[in-house]
Amino acid sequence: MKSTGFEEILSGFSKISPLKFEIWNEKGVVSSCDLEDPYKVRQFLPGMAARVYAIEDFLHEKNPKASELFGLPLFNEDSVAGVLLAYFDSSHSTAGKDFPDTKDVKVLLTKIAGLIEERWEMQNESDTLITELDKSYESLHLYSNVATQIKTLNFSSQMILHLLNEIKDNIRMDMVFSIMPDRPDYSEIVCGEEINIKDESGFVASLIKSVENSNKELDEGYFIVNNSADSKLFSKLHKDPFRFLAVKIVHNENFFGWLGIFSLNMDDIIKRSELRLLVSIAEQIGVVIANTDLYHNLEDFGINIVKSLIVTIEAKDVYTGGHSERVHHITMLLAKELGINEKDTKILNWSALLHDVGKIGIPESILNKPSRLDDKEYKAIKKHPLKGAEIISPLEYLSESIPGVLHHHEAYDGTGYPSRIKGEQIPLFARIISVADTFDAITSDRAYRKGASFEKGYAIINEVAGTQLDPDLVQIFNGIYKKSKIWQIQRQII
Ligand SMILES: [Fe+2]
Repeated sequence: MKSTGFEEILSGFSKISPLKFEIWNEKGVVSSCDLEDPYKVRQFLPGMAARVYAIEDFLHEKNPKASELFGLPLFNEDSVAGVLLAYFDSSHSTAGKDFPDTKDVKVLLTKIAGLIEERWEMQNESDTLITELDKSYESLHLYSNVATQIKTLNFSSQMILHLLNEIKDNIRMDMVFSIMPDRPDYSEIVCGEEINIKDESGFVASLIKSVENSNKELDEGYFIVNNSADSKLFSKLHKDPFRFLAVKIVHNENFFGWLGIFSLNMDDIIKRSELRLLVSIAEQIGVVIANTDLYHNLEDFGINIVKSLIVTIEAKDVYTGGHSERVHHITMLLAKELGINEKDTKILNWSALLHDVGKIGIPESILNKPSRLDDKEYKAIKKHPLKGAEIISPLEYLSESIPGVLHHHEAYDGTGYPSRIKGEQIPLFARIISVADTFDAITSDRAYRKGASFEKGYAIINEVAGTQLDPDLVQIFNGIYKKSKIWQIQRQII
């Protein structure tokens, strides 16, 4: 028997009356003033408890063995949650002690029951309060997580997936989804184990189609169904009844899609707090998508500016047309082979495209000189990596691409420029660009000489491995070269 805290009350009343008291529920005794039973009266209590449960009213029975039994149902939230039993063993009563009057016992039991029910009521209130506080805490926790993600400028499908999982775990739903018809990257569904739907995306699509086909105005931007069985439109979508909430993801009147929660647990309804939370999250998603779009537009704008910059440089040098793009292509092939991640590939991409951007400050007479350069002219040419780094340094977005530009003429043995660093001291991205740049410089025409064949280019690259170029990267280059990728790409660009 688990202590329920009522033992003291029952013992107290037992001391001031000839009765003994117990509280029972459907499973057995839960509280007793005294479990010792020398006169074997307690054996009659299970039957008595069951009968009081059945009639849900006060019951007085005189037992054939001369014990008097009394019972009164105990109510918790309008249903019988237990029974209060009292017994009096008349066969062993002490002389002089009066039999209790049934009416008096009923009054006494009603008083004790009142105390117990009051205590239960208080417990219920405190449980509700704790649950609400708990939920508020969960909502706050979830919201703070969302807010942190929303700060990012570059929203991704992984982030939306993480967000949906957070919602599912925090508000205990069977399914959480985001559906954005024009943005498949942001359309995700996360499901709990209870969900047994074969085609989840098809199901969510028909759910949203039904929302849009319903005659509701949806002015407030959300749609709630608390029991699908009440609606012809929704009951046909799933064999079991369900409840769900779908909130529009909108920003500045641009409609992006729907954020939704779905549950098969029909013991509960969609709460106002859940609606508020989902509306806030959908608003934040709308903002972040708008920001991400803006960011991508700016990024595209930046790419176009850089591309026109490259065209400008190459227009100055009649012989190097397409050089930057060819170097960029070979660099990207090397990056792929090296397994460089997406973020770093982006950085390397810009370094490769812009590696010769500093040539913009070099006179055309030097760039296009048909004879060998003198020392002064060569000195001027050697300034282009530094100039390139200076040109892109005001652009914060390209800051990580600077080392690749600045050091693409360093040599592996330390004899290059501008810093004369060697080996691993040279940033990896600069070493990669250097391989691509060297191959293209050898194989393309220059003002003072014809370009060598690809075979010759390949041979020279291998000759300078370890002196000018990183030997490990040359090995990677050889692998790509043998797969003929460079041939194909070079031909396409040329
Ligand atoms: Fe260069």
